[in-house]
Amino acid sequence: MGAPQIQPPRKELELNQGFTVWLTGLSGAGKSTIAERLAPELSARGCSVEVLDGDEVRTHLSKGLGFSREDRDINIGRISFVASLLVRHGAAVITAAISPYAQARDEARRRIGTDRFVEVFVRCSLDELVRRDVKGLYAKALKGEVQHFTGVSDPYEAPEKPDVLVDSEVESVEESVSKILTELTKRGHLNPSTPLGINSAKGAL
Ligand code: ADX
Repeated sequence: MGAPQIQPPRKELELNQGFTVWLTGLSGAGKSTIAERLAPELSARGCSVEVLDGDEVRTHLSKGLGFSREDRDINIGRISFVASLLVRHGAAVITAAISPYAQARDEARRRIGTDRFVEVFVRCSLDELVRRDVKGLYAKALKGEVQHFTGVSDPYEAPEKPDVLVDSEVESVEESVSKILTELTKRGHLNPSTPLGINSAKGAL
C-alpha cells in the first residue's frame, strides 16, 4: 500500500471562506432591515449565515452594558470576537451595531482579517431619522431624556472610506442589498456565476 495521496485544496473551496459584512450607521438608519434582507440572499448563494444584531446582542452577550465609550467598545469587541470565530469556520457574518468609533471598527477589521471584512456605511441624515423615529428615542434624546444618544448628544464617526456606501434616505433596501452583493462578488466571496438580482438565486441551488 502506497502512502495516502494528499490532494491540493479544490479551487471552489476558496469560495467557502468566511467573511463579515460590518454594517455601521446611526440608530434607525436601516442596519437591521438590511441585515434581515441580506441574510436570505447569502443563504440562497450557499453561505452559512449568522446575523449579530446590536439590539439582540445587548439582550444576551452584552446585557448590562450602557452607552459610554468604554461600554460601546466592549460591546463592539465582543461582536467582533464572535464574528472572528464564526468567520474562521467559514460563516458569512452580518453585524448590525451602530459601532460609532472608527478605532473600534478598525480593531474589528484587524481581528476578523482585512480581506474578510467588508465595511458598509448605512448613511441617513439626522433630519430623516428624527422624522422616522421608529423607537421614539430621537424625540427623547432631543428633549434630554436619553443621555449620550448617538448623533444627538454622542459622537458618530462616519467611515471615511467605507467598502460600500448605502444611503437609506434615497435607496430602497433592495438597492442597498444589491450593492453589497456586488461588492462581495467582486471580492471573490460569492460565486460570480450566481445571478445578482434579489431573490433570483433561490431557484439556482
Ligand atoms: S453601539 O454603539 O454599542 O454599537 P448598539 O448598536 O449596540 O450600539 O445599540 C444601539 C441601540 O441601542 C439603538 O438602536 C437604540 O435602540 C438603543 N439605544 C439606547 N440608548 C442609546 C444611546 N444612548 N445611543 C445609541 N443607541 C441607544
